[in-house]
Amino acid sequence: MTTSSAPGKVYLFGEHAVVYGEPAVPCAIERRARVTAEPRDDHRVRVESDDLTLDGFTVEWGADTDDHPNVDVPSNLVAAATGYVDEALAQARDALGDPEAGFDVTIESDIPLGGGLGSSAAVVVAAIDAAVRSRGESIEPEELADRAYQAEAAVQDGEASRADTYCSAMGGAVRVEGDDTRPIGAPELPLVIGYDGGAGDTGKLVAGVRALKEEYEFAADTVETIGDLTREGERLLADAEPGGEPGDELLEELGDLMDFNHGLLSALGVSARSLDRMVWTAREAEATGAKLTGAGGGGCIVALDPSEATERALAYSPGCEESFRAELATEGVRAE
Ligand code: PMV
Repeated sequence: MTTSSAPGKVYLFGEHAVVYGEPAVPCAIERRARVTAEPRDDHRVRVESDDLTLDGFTVEWGADTDDHPNVDVPSNLVAAATGYVDEALAQARDALGDPEAGFDVTIESDIPLGGGLGSSAAVVVAAIDAAVRSRGESIEPEELADRAYQAEAAVQDGEASRADTYCSAMGGAVRVEGDDTRPIGAPELPLVIGYDGGAGDTGKLVAGVRALKEEYEFAADTVETIGDLTREGERLLADAEPGGEPGDELLEELGDLMDFNHGLLSALGVSARSLDRMVWTAREAEATGAKLTGAGGGGCIVALDPSEATERALAYSPGCEESFRAELATEGVRAE
């Protein structure tokens, strides 16, 4: 049996705008998806998951069919979860040059599904890596990131940036602008996550921003402004010592930009009452700034606070199901 894990991520800056070629800075966090793969003698695929916030499911299907006979959970969730695994295994088969390769796959994840922490990207990255390695081959992180992006794009009808998958494969903080992807240095940021227990529909939210942008010039300007503030955030990070402790001034400045970024995402219609409430709870505690992370609509916020105040305030805040401190994951995909 071969197990790989890959981290989730938060967006410090730039989600949604990244879809239109603006830069984004996601940052990998120590919450991981673990995928175990075992080659089969036939061409079939069996997927088992007792996590992913599904109640547990087992799916078996042939490489050339898409019937899911053993499914006992809502079909839209299964379609989403198995869609990603299906596309990931298609990429693994392609990398192996064996279109008939079959696998038994087990998925465990401590990343909330669809909550803006890059759960699907982490599963896809770990699944491709585990499937390829289970056949005695290896795959370089850059190729893995590209294949994982192709898999996500296939499931999301082309509406995906390279940000989530690249960050999950490489770890650390990264910068993504169109096809230009690279790691950047970042200090040890005091990230606090608040999770409302829900999830947004990435496809619908991306389509909503696209429609707004096409209808109103000021929505297009808002997207560009997100790009500008992301560049400003990158400059601040570049001046800091990688892996070092950030000073108060840097945390204030980054926090201001995160607040600004959240306001602009709200203007684009992708926030939610629960996300706004958690953002305000964090700001009224001791966070230097807070914003939604990922597609929005529900899910997670990320705040900066070196003290315990924000995590505690969020834990008692109505509408926040879970709050936790997230460490920067310096390692991306790895063999377990
Ligand atoms: O919610 P997540 O983690 O899937 O992030 C979506 C980020 C978007 O910028 C809205 C879409 C994308 O593919 O970059």
